[in-house]
Amino acid sequence: MAYYRRVGDVPAKRHTRHRTPTGDLYREELMGEEGFSSDSSLLYHTGVPSAIVDATPWDLPDQCTRENRPLLPRHLQLHRLTAPDWAAVDAVTGRRLVLGNADVRISYVAAGAASPLYRNAVGDECVYVESGTATVETVFGALPAAAGDYVLLPRGTTHRWVPTGPEPVRLYAVEAASHLAPPRRYLSRFGQLLEQAPYCERDLHGPDAPLLTEGTEVEVLVKHRGSRGITGTRYVHPTHPFDVVGWDGCLYPYTFNVADFEPITGRVHQPPPVHQVFAGEGVVICNFVPRKVDYHPLSVPVPYYHSNVDSDEVMFYCGGDYEARKGSGIGQGSVSLHPGGHSHGPQPGAVERSIGAEFFDELAVMVDTARPLELGEGGLAAEDPGYAWTWSGRGPT
Ligand SMILES: [Fe+2]
Repeated sequence: MAYYRRVGDVPAKRHTRHRTPTGDLYREELMGEEGFSSDSSLLYHTGVPSAIVDATPWDLPDQCTRENRPLLPRHLQLHRLTAPDWAAVDAVTGRRLVLGNADVRISYVAAGAASPLYRNAVGDECVYVESGTATVETVFGALPAAAGDYVLLPRGTTHRWVPTGPEPVRLYAVEAASHLAPPRRYLSRFGQLLEQAPYCERDLHGPDAPLLTEGTEVEVLVKHRGSRGITGTRYVHPTHPFDVVGWDGCLYPYTFNVADFEPITGRVHQPPPVHQVFAGEGVVICNFVPRKVDYHPLSVPVPYYHSNVDSDEVMFYCGGDYEARKGSGIGQGSVSLHPGGHSHGPQPGAVERSIGAEFFDELAVMVDTARPLELGEGGLAAEDPGYAWTWSGRGPT
């Protein structure tokens, strides 16, 4: 994201001597993407960011997936994944894999405990907060997170999730194997968000102050690429990684609240790309927010049946009342998977009911993938097996 930010104590000129009040040198670290050829930031540490005193394997939660065969639309009720002891579950090690492919993995967790320090070295994370509150402490500073926030964590950002409320913080974690950013068409050729984009820089919130944390023998869990898929390592650092006195640049974590997305509406049905928020390689993220609906005198406000032949479509229903899915059992916390190769659209009666509607009070986050999605153990555990037959009203006997 090419949007310059400067926080804390940085020297007037990059790559020059920057000293502590007692005369020691701060350690400058460049964190950058695409081999020094894309966005980066410079961070100034009191300690040595490379220093480790131990490294052991970290076994991730179950990352196995099962193909979607027979090819079916699926309904997954993610609230069923809430553990009875959610207060002891953390937002990193407690994630349950719902869906995944080589480009993206979607997990869900309802957490009440502070997570270990963690960084994802596979790709960027976009974590949507369904409900609850948390502070996301990062090496760049802290980010408050609440319902409706997308928390964007660039690949390699050391951070931890600290729930802050009496209820669980419910997180829908989209982990890409690439970088996630505003779609190219929203940006000027120099990277500013354009007038026709549904959000702008004022809607993006980065850290405001360094987070100086004392500590010794500090564990950090690292999710990274392995020869047989995604794996993990546990490091121990001699001092706390949150030792940055200042940083500047265009690469840092930030939040964006879905309520700040200004929907683009029309006289007739607008296609899903107008609802796009972020893009990665082989994955796009869109959101359907409360909005005035199609106002042509003969309009049909719910979508037409559609066969998205090049993608799988995942909807996470996270607020309001989703008009086109009424009568299917879908509710708050549900996910629908509509795979490429199967046409989908409104449930029976939804088209007729929508005629004359002026406003839809619905909130959903959509992930579209270029490669087919497989079901993770969390997805399989949360499945409502009747969904595929709701359009016809009967299934196999
Ligand atoms: Fe769709």
